Amino acid sequence: MSVTPWDDQSGADERRATGFGAGGDEPYAAALSGAGTLQMRAADASGPRRDAPVVEFDVARWSAPADQVDRSLLNGVDGPLIDLGCGPGRMVVAAQCAGVPALGVDLSAAAVRVARRAGADVVRGSVFDPLPAEGYWDTALLIDGNIGIGGDPVRLLRRAGAIIRVGGSVIVEAHPDPRMDRRFDAVVTDRRGRVSAAFPWAEIGLEALLDSADQAGLIPRAAWTVAHRTFCDLTR
Ligand SMILES: C[S@@+](CC[C@H](N)C(=O)[O-])C[C@H]1O[C@@H](n2cnc3c(N)ncnc32)[C@H](O)[C@@H]1O
Repeated sequence: MSVTPWDDQSGADERRATGFGAGGDEPYAAALSGAGTLQMRAADASGPRRDAPVVEFDVARWSAPADQVDRSLLNGVDGPLIDLGCGPGRMVVAAQCAGVPALGVDLSAAAVRVARRAGADVVRGSVFDPLPAEGYWDTALLIDGNIGIGGDPVRLLRRAGAIIRVGGSVIVEAHPDPRMDRRFDAVVTDRRGRVSAAFPWAEIGLEALLDSADQAGLIPRAAWTVAHRTFCDLTR
C-alpha cells in the first residue's frame, strides 16, 4: 500500500489550522499530552459564544486502549479498516491487535505522533485529500463525534462512501439525541483557558444521519445503541 507523504505536503498548513482543537493555544495537542477533557462551543468572530451549549470531550478515553464498546465495532470485521480522524489511534491499535489490517488518518500532528508511538499505522492529512487504496477499504470508521468533521455531514459521508469498496461499511457514531441536528463554527477550550482557532463542526443524531446518508448515496444496514452510544452501519 502506498502512503502519501502528508507531512511534506505543501499548502497543508491552512487546513491543519482549521482542524478540531487546533490553532490558537492548541488545546487538543495539550490534552493529548496530559489526557484531560476538552470543551467545545459554538463560536462567532469574537470567540466562544457564552450562550452556546458546551460539549465535553473525554480525551482520556481516546488516549486509553479501546474499551469493550469500541472493540465490539470490530466484530465480524476482517478486511482492511480505515479510521477517519483516528486521534491517538486506539481503534487502529485494537484492529491491528485483532489481526485486521488498519490505517488511521488524522490532521493533528500531535495525535499522529501519539498514535505512531502506540504502534498504529497512521498518515497525517485530511480525510478530504487523496488517501491510500481509496475504494478498497472494507470498513471506514467515523466515531467519537467525527461525523462533525468539516461541518457538512453529507459531504463527509459522500467522501467516506468513496473510500470504502462497494458493499463495504461506513460505521458512524451518531449523537445520542436522535433529533440532534446542528452545524456551527466551533472552538475547543480547556480548563486552563487555552482556546483553539475556529473550525467548522456538526452534531447529528440518528434522524439527520439517515437523511444525510440518503443524500450521500449510502444505504443504512443497521443502527444500534450500546452503553449510551449510537452507531449506524452504512454501505454503498
Ligand atoms: C472529536 S476528535 C475524535 C478523536 C478520535 N476518534 C480518537 O479516537 O481519539 C476528532 C479527530 O478528527 C481529527 N480531524 C479533524 N478534522 C479532520 C480532517 N479533515 N481529516 C482528518 N482528521 C481530522 C482531529 O484532529 C481529531 O483527532
